Amino acid sequence: MSKEKENDLMQKIVSLCKRRGFIFPACEIYGGFANAYSYGPYGAELKNNIKKLWWKMFVQEPEEMIGIDGPILLHPKLWEASGHTEGFNDALVDCKECKMRFRADHLVEEATGKDLEGKLEEMTKILKEEKVKCPNCGKSNWTDARFVNMMFHTEMNSYEGTVYLRPETAGAIFVEFKNIIDAMHPKLPFGIGQIGKAFRNEIVARNFIFRIREFEQMEIEYFFNPQEKWEPIFMDWLERQEKFFYALGLKKEDIRLFEHPKEKLSHYSRKTVDIEYNFPFGWGELSGLAHRGDFDLTQHSKFSNTKLEYLDPVSGEKFVPHVIEPTFGLDRTILVALLAAYHEEKVEGEERVVMKFPLAIAPIKIAIFPLLKNKPQLVDKAKEIYNLLKQQYTCEFDDNGNIGKRYRRQDEIGTPFCITVDFDSLENNDVTIRDRDTMKQERIKIDELKEYFEGRFNK
Ligand code: GAP
Repeated sequence: MSKEKENDLMQKIVSLCKRRGFIFPACEIYGGFANAYSYGPYGAELKNNIKKLWWKMFVQEPEEMIGIDGPILLHPKLWEASGHTEGFNDALVDCKECKMRFRADHLVEEATGKDLEGKLEEMTKILKEEKVKCPNCGKSNWTDARFVNMMFHTEMNSYEGTVYLRPETAGAIFVEFKNIIDAMHPKLPFGIGQIGKAFRNEIVARNFIFRIREFEQMEIEYFFNPQEKWEPIFMDWLERQEKFFYALGLKKEDIRLFEHPKEKLSHYSRKTVDIEYNFPFGWGELSGLAHRGDFDLTQHSKFSNTKLEYLDPVSGEKFVPHVIEPTFGLDRTILVALLAAYHEEKVEGEERVVMKFPLAIAPIKIAIFPLLKNKPQLVDKAKEIYNLLKQQYTCEFDDNGNIGKRYRRQDEIGTPFCITVDFDSLENNDVTIRDRDTMKQERIKIDELKEYFEGRFNK
């Protein structure tokens, strides 16, 4: 795809999301704020469906998994133990001309292809000596690059000192390791999953919901005996992660793996792999998988003065388990689900935009239309069907505009089935069901609708 076409696709997604009520720029009436976004009615449904699918695949179904829901405000010592207070920094540089702020490492990498992670002096030198241009004003007049911590600071009336909004959900899992062991007595290997908000004071938020400051993560800490071979566990998780993305409709060719080079790994990690997606703006990280050894439990043990160990019920041996961490960004996952679902088709000379979401994540499952809104008998019958089906499925009743327009709207929302109640329905007690993908229509008796949809949704 050409660069122009790619950007075009991103623009189309952003505009569809706003037009159809998936995602809005937040606080627009105040001129917007911090590149933040609100999930509108269909976006909130889509988000919930993706969370539900994730929870089902990673917490509910696997026998060795359990789920928790920890707080956003956690003891500040936790972030000392994890290294975030000291080292969770990005390199910031200001343009002295237009006062815009940028990630120094990103500017250097875009201009020279060099990855200077952490080397502030070298970044400053390149920006100044090679006269790298400001992407905003085009001039080259930079401050020195400096580190800023990416955690949001806040305070608590009951605590003296700085408190942080959690920059990742993982910490909330590690601090409950002992409680989980005491309450649940899980056998190794076992995993703890969690979905929730995380906050990062990103210098530049960009690419719609790809990089934002308030986002959600879906994370797992998978504990195992260090005597066990870790490679098969790692590979198994990688496969499970990919399977999840395929269930969201992503194509194989749009996913690739990036293994972090050994020399860039943290000292405790044996292997880290990013799952990358072919975004319209280039390949970008979607999800990660990291072997973290015993780093987290050992650190939290040290900083809390509490033993975080596992007692093997058979050998009676006590040890600190090792951990493998699969991590997912929920907002990035939503973005790729939107990109993968977007289709343009020519139908009888006209363009049709259709979001081909897999059934499990489609925000609205069934739309119900009376053929005409000014015929009470049709409206009553359609309402009856709506009330019947909405107990089980997310449904929408729509009597606005002609049927063609209503189909087009539901196609853009990605609704898999539309039911129309017409005059024949009153005579024969049946309706037309139109399939989103094939656009084929069939007549089904009203009293067979529940069974019909059970068959379609549970295939
Ligand atoms: N506990 C490990 C961890 O947090 P990470 O690679 O920093 O690892 C995990 O983040 C995932 O969170 C990323 O793969 C990405 O999907 C998502 N993520 C990170 N920063 C984000 C941001 N500013 N906006 C949206 N998603 C983000």
